[in-house]
Amino acid sequence: MNGVYTAIAAPNIALVKYWGKRDDSGLNLPYNSSVSMTLHQNTVRTVTSVALDPEIKRDAVYVDGKLQNTSRGDEKVNLIMGVIREMKSMGNSEGGVLVVSRNNFPAGSGLASSASGGAALVFALNEALSLHLDSRRLSVLARKMSGSACRSIFGGFVRWNRGTSPGGEDSYAEQIAPPSHWELIDVICIVSASSKKVSSSAGHLITPKTSVLYKSRLELAERNAEGAAGAIEERDFETLAEIAMADSNNMHATMLDSWPPIKYMNEKSWKVVEAVHEMNSRYGRNIAAYTFDAGPNAHVITTPKYEKEVEDEMRSALGERARILASHIGDGPRLTNKKDRLIDDSLQPILGN
Ligand code: PMV
Repeated sequence: MNGVYTAIAAPNIALVKYWGKRDDSGLNLPYNSSVSMTLHQNTVRTVTSVALDPEIKRDAVYVDGKLQNTSRGDEKVNLIMGVIREMKSMGNSEGGVLVVSRNNFPAGSGLASSASGGAALVFALNEALSLHLDSRRLSVLARKMSGSACRSIFGGFVRWNRGTSPGGEDSYAEQIAPPSHWELIDVICIVSASSKKVSSSAGHLITPKTSVLYKSRLELAERNAEGAAGAIEERDFETLAEIAMADSNNMHATMLDSWPPIKYMNEKSWKVVEAVHEMNSRYGRNIAAYTFDAGPNAHVITTPKYEKEVEDEMRSALGERARILASHIGDGPRLTNKKDRLIDDSLQPILGN
């Protein structure tokens, strides 16, 4: 019995997006490199506890209070179970593993709970199994659960190199700069908490196969990844903002160009787009940048100086009842103490309410 290990990780927001995978075998190998920033665990986080014990007869995973059904062939659940098996085999562990994971933000709403969840799980399992894997190997393992999870293994500003090897050994994330390098804020506007109709894992296969625009995206996205990394190093907000907005728009254009078309942004998302362009043109330069993942919720990136103004503008664009939270940039996963644990001493899940 190794005890209960609990890890905490934050989602990341991509400034240059991963959309489209070149394999269909559960490796999540992207066609293009991407660049992200990891959000702050104080604002958005996944807490994941794991216990390994011969008394646990079957591997079981609970997410937000619900037991994940392993027999229904759900792709996401299969990928999680696959990584658990892979890590268990490295540690020669006997018995089953119990995983209990909880997000403090709505899952399936384009707020990348799969990224923080994947990162927290491999981090906790690495400890529970005493594997001593380095961050690069943890990044490869997290990637297999959900591509973007490989970036949440690091804090601060992160680049995921697409790699070219068919086995994916060279497709991992690396830190470009720590959180202290540049104080940026992500003003998250939650315009819908409902789950998306087309999962990102399905979309990653549909778009490259069907969109004619996608071919031109690949070259652009690779150039954007270079440009964004350079702008981050230089702390050049004007350039980073331009790249982030153009890259998000380009990705959503290829989604709409897919067959059948995939639409994630809604009317409210567009209100955010218009409000940001309006603010930037009022200032005569970029003071904010929007970016959207596979969902309608907006991430508006800005600097501390304009945070309050951006929040006010978003509230007036979306209405007083809009749910807005602002996150700083934060660290990578860490082990957390007993008070956060989600498995009790008798190895029962603490599911909360
Ligand atoms: O890792 P996935 O399968 O959830 O895909 C993430 C895709 C986007 O959020 C749209 C872009 C990204 O790079 O995070």
